[in-house]
Amino acid sequence: MILTRIHPNKSKEVFALSATTAISSAAEYVNAPLFYKGKVREMYDLGEHFLMVTTDRISAFDYVLSPAVPDKGNVLNQLSAFWFKQTASLMPNHVVHTDLEKLPAGLIKDADVMKHRFTVSKKAQRIDIECVVRGYITGGGWRQYQKTGEINGIKLPEGMRKNEKFPQPLFTPAAKNDAGHDEDISYERMEELVGKELAAELREKSFRLYEFAHQFCAERGIILADTKFEFGLIDGKVILIDEIFTPDSSRFWAKENYAYDIEIDGMDKEPVRTYLSGTGWDKNSEPDPLPAAVVEETSRRYRDILHRLTGG
Ligand SMILES: Nc1ncnc2c1ncn2[C@@H]1O[C@H](COP(=O)(O)OP(=O)(O)OP(=O)(O)O)[C@@H](O)[C@H]1O
Ligand SMILES: [Mg+2]
Repeated sequence: MILTRIHPNKSKEVFALSATTAISSAAEYVNAPLFYKGKVREMYDLGEHFLMVTTDRISAFDYVLSPAVPDKGNVLNQLSAFWFKQTASLMPNHVVHTDLEKLPAGLIKDADVMKHRFTVSKKAQRIDIECVVRGYITGGGWRQYQKTGEINGIKLPEGMRKNEKFPQPLFTPAAKNDAGHDEDISYERMEELVGKELAAELREKSFRLYEFAHQFCAERGIILADTKFEFGLIDGKVILIDEIFTPDSSRFWAKENYAYDIEIDGMDKEPVRTYLSGTGWDKNSEPDPLPAAVVEETSRRYRDILHRLTGG
């Protein structure tokens, strides 16, 4: 499939070349020991650094689905790299480079497949907290509010409407655990886990990053409803790690779809969610493979977000 078909005037050469290969594992393309395999990313050990490779795997409800989605990994990696550059003055991050020419000879087996999906990053000691910032009441936050009137222990006014903007964004951390299920915790619990000083620093940085990106997106007709960050420590200094402001870590809404009380169509995985909810899948067993049309539409949506945000 040649993607210029979809964005005839806008696609960069990158997509025309890379869209043919969706990869569900990077193992055969990388000549280095695998350090960690997550649901979407693979971290390879380069000694001083990591080679972080974003595959085209797609997950929903903690299941990795099949098949992989063409270009998803390229989009996530390029978008994240873009944002890391944009936010470097607000917060240092783990990126060393994303430059094919700087990779050691022989590390990568297929430059066309790999060139937009890797990041060489500094190894950090991960802080096991997902730093979630919510600007709007929706998703899991809305569900908590309906049950308890609170989100992560933060008492909210009565009568809020689904998708309403908060007067001030909320910080609602989650503790990362090894099973991969994150547990919502109160800010006080986060203080117990990481210490008051570090908790305050992470919260402050998270707000600033969210506000920056929210504004940036707003100027491009996109609402950044919520997002999450991961931070790490190197020599006692806090840096941003992992990825930022991609559809995997953030909820993007097209401004024209924004309304109260409805389920707003997400800009990325919505075709997958809609399809899965139509199949009656119990979320406790392997789901059926996604139909080609769903995969193609999802791929198109990822590329569209990248285009709308970066012009790429
Ligand atoms: N610079 C870094 N130093 C150390 N760990 C990192 C760094 N950047 C990212 N990570 C970790 O690498 C992993 C990336 O994989 P991925 O995000 O696909 O995992 P995941 O399935 O989401 O699991 P997790 O819940 O652990 O994030 C994450 O665990 C992330 O915390
Ligand atoms: Mg992750």
